[in-house]
This record gives sequence, C-alpha cells and structure tokens, in this order.
Amino acid sequence: MIKLDTIISLAKRRGFVFQSSEIYGGLNGFWDYGPLGVELLNNYKQAWWREMTYRDDIVGVDAAIIMHPKTWVASGHVAQFSDPMIDNKTSKARYRADNLIEEYIQKLRNKNKNDLANEIETKLNKAEKNEDYYNIITGYQITCPVSGSTEWTEVRNFNLMFKTFVGPVEDESSTVYLRPESAQGIFVNFKNVMDSARMRPPFGIAQIGKAFRNEINTKNFLFRTREFEQMEMQYFIKPGSEKDWFEYWKEQRWNWYLKMGMKESKMKWKVHEKLAHYANYAVDIEFEFPFGFGEIEGIHSRTDFDLSSHQNHSGKKLEYVDTVNQDRFVPYVIETSGGVSRGFMAMLCNAYDEEKITEDGKEETRVVMRFHPRLAPITLAVFPLVNKDGMPEYAHKIYKDLQKYFPTQYDTSGAIGRRYRRQDEIGTPFCVTVDGQTLEDHSVTIRNRDSMLQDRIPVSKIKEYIEERID
Ligand code: GAP
Repeated sequence: MIKLDTIISLAKRRGFVFQSSEIYGGLNGFWDYGPLGVELLNNYKQAWWREMTYRDDIVGVDAAIIMHPKTWVASGHVAQFSDPMIDNKTSKARYRADNLIEEYIQKLRNKNKNDLANEIETKLNKAEKNEDYYNIITGYQITCPVSGSTEWTEVRNFNLMFKTFVGPVEDESSTVYLRPESAQGIFVNFKNVMDSARMRPPFGIAQIGKAFRNEINTKNFLFRTREFEQMEMQYFIKPGSEKDWFEYWKEQRWNWYLKMGMKESKMKWKVHEKLAHYANYAVDIEFEFPFGFGEIEGIHSRTDFDLSSHQNHSGKKLEYVDTVNQDRFVPYVIETSGGVSRGFMAMLCNAYDEEKITEDGKEETRVVMRFHPRLAPITLAVFPLVNKDGMPEYAHKIYKDLQKYFPTQYDTSGAIGRRYRRQDEIGTPFCVTVDGQTLEDHSVTIRNRDSMLQDRIPVSKIKEYIEERID
C-alpha cells in the first residue's frame, strides 16, 4: 500500500497540488491546483459532464455560490447541518466526536481487538444525540491523540456553514452563507429549468461547483477540506418510482468510475444505516485511500423533501403538471453527489505505481501514474532523440502541430530514458521520438506508457493513432 506522503510529495514536486497560500505558512483545509493538477481536474470534470449531460434527459446549470439565506432554512442546513464537537481540556484540541471514536475503532482493529471494535462500532452506529457520543468517549476512556488525556468537555453542535454578509452592514438581516452543497442551486432552479428546457420527469439537472464547509478537523490531504468542489445531479421522478431509479443510478455511477480506470478491487459500497433527514435510501461509493476506505460519492433518494420544503418556504409551486394525463405531483429526487477533489485524489492514488525495470543493464524503479488517457494531464510528449542534425527542428514542428489537439509537452533535456521517466511520473500516455530515420522516411517512434512498447508510425498518423487509443 502506498503512503499518503508519497502522493502528497509527488503532487507538490510535479505541480499537481500546492498548499494554499504556502508562502504564509498555508491555510488548513485549503489547497491550490498547479499546472498539471488543473489539467487533471478539468479532464475529470469534463469526463463527468460528458457522461451525465450528453444524453436526452439531463441538462446542466451553474448556480451562484451565495444564495438567498432562506434557502438554507428550507433545506434544513441552518437547523441541522452541524457536527458533534468535543474539546480536550488538557490539550485544548478540538475533535469531531464521531471521527474521534472512528479513529479509536481503527486503532483497535489494527491491534486485532476486533470484538471491542465491533462493540463500539455498533454503539456509534446507533448514536443519535450528543450525549451518546459523550458516553462512548468517556465510557471507553478514549484518550486525546495529542495529550493522551481523558479530560473531555461535553459534546456540542457546531454548524458547518461559513457565514458572510451582503452589502456594507454586518448584521443578522445581511447574513448569507457560502453554500455547503451545490444541490440547493439545482432545487431552487427546478421550475426555471423544467419550463425553459421543456423537460418532464424523469429528467435530471447536473452541476459542477464549489462548496464550503467549516469542517472541525480537516485531514488527509484533499479528502476533507473546507473548500471543495462537487459534481452533483438531481434526477426528478414520479413518486413511487424511486427504488428503481435509485438502483439505476447506483449502477451508472459505479460503472463510470470503472470506465475512468478505477480499480474495482479498491472500491466498495457503504449502505447508510443512519439516514440524513431528507433521505429514504442512501449508499456511498468508497475508495481505498492509503489511510483506508473513504466516501467519494453518495447516491441518495431524497424523496420530495427539498422541493416541498422550498415550496412551503417560498410560496411558489414546485410541481410537475401533466396536462395530458391529468396528473400533478411534486417530484421525488435521486441525487448522485460526487466530490471532485476527493475523486481527483482517488485518481492520483489509483494511478500511482512503482515498478522495477532494467534499462541499459541497470535496474531502476520507475514511478508511473497510470491515469486513464482521457484524464492524463498531458496526452503526448515529443522529443528529438539528440539535439542536432535537424531533429530538434523536426520534433518542434510536430509538437506545435499536435498542441492544437492535445495537451502536449516538448522536452530536449537529458538522456531519452530520463525524459521517458519524467513523463511516466506525470502519467503521459504517449511519447513521440524523432530520430535519424524520421529525417529519411518521416516516421517516428511512439511509446506507450504502460507497456513501454514502441510502434513506428508515419508522422501524418500520430493524431489518428492517439485518438484511437484515448478512450
Ligand atoms: N448534496 C449531497 C451532499 O452534499 P455529502 O455526502 O455531504 O452529500 C457529497 O457530500 C460528496 O462531496 C462526498 O461524497 C464527498 O466526495 C464530497 N465532500 C463532502 N464534504 C467534503 C469535504 N469536506 N472535503 C472534500 N470533499 C467533500
């Protein structure tokens, strides 16, 4: 199993991800995407967008991050979007009570104390009130990871929404929130979209956008951050059909990750036993990160909770009227809610590979990011074999021609083996080399990242060769 630090260090060294405002010491829970990271991120989002909206029954929106504050009253976030928080009196460290217990359970499992771990896990799954978490923490004498002390405060609720103000006056009436999920931007636009795009249930609305949560503890690189991106789709259906659509979307979403090259052995389902206030069925797709399995996407059957609640709070009808069949209803919703940054991080972990190879009689370790070619930040690199005899000029021309179609790099520095290694480490699926023969017959070698095998093809066929293999 790779270490998370290995991924973080590669991500920084090669320009995938940097700590936000690093020159000031960074800001906990915020990250910046570098030149390669933004390409991977955009490819990931684009692949999702194509999958979800290049079909008859789903259209997209891009809603504002700051919404009318009543949105969050209607959605239940003002009253309920909080995590149970506990402070250690000795270290003053603050924890999410359920996470503290989960980590303790994991520690017990690592020590093969599975009976005790199961006992505590059963209690955790049943915990509903702050008191329940407190009783587990104190009852099992769970210690603070910083101070080792068992001196705990009560468990309190902490609302995760970031607040800010609209306009110059900072008071209650001007308070707004940075959206904690993109979904509500879809719900409040349900009628606008249905009417303007002439959709009728079953149909979906998709959106990719930022969300913000003032998480008590951020951790594990991009896994739990305070600013992140979501790719969400709400599918509006006739009440009563939710079980079938729920199964349909589970299958669709699982298969999408496989299509993107995710290893099925690293994926698993988690069925929610405790359901959110709006859901009647819910599952997560989990990926095995270096620190263990964690959710990358949730599929939720949200009933008509959101539309009905917005209808009540806004006074505006949010129903579908079927004039042909004399039917009217507030649609039920199946939601697919994936984290972009979590998915991005899963793709980094999924792609990372080290293998021993022998080159020029020497054994070395090749680090290779085995990204799906559609996701790879750079599709193609072009090299002259040597920096003389007209090869650089020839190679540079190929590079400029192909750059119009694919993200392409040109590299002349170091031995050819080193140049391959540099591209392997960022996951470039194809490397084209211009050599002596190119100058004679206009053919090049094209090397495949995964097999390291080379084909010799005419220069005029490079684009076609790549296009055939990219999907
Ligand atoms: N609209 C439903 C919703 O937001 P969620 O399970 O709270 O459901 C959906 O979030 C996805 O958003 C998660 O599966 C995860 O990938 C991502 N996500 C949630 N909180 C996150 C955080 N603090 N940092 C990074 N990604 C997060």
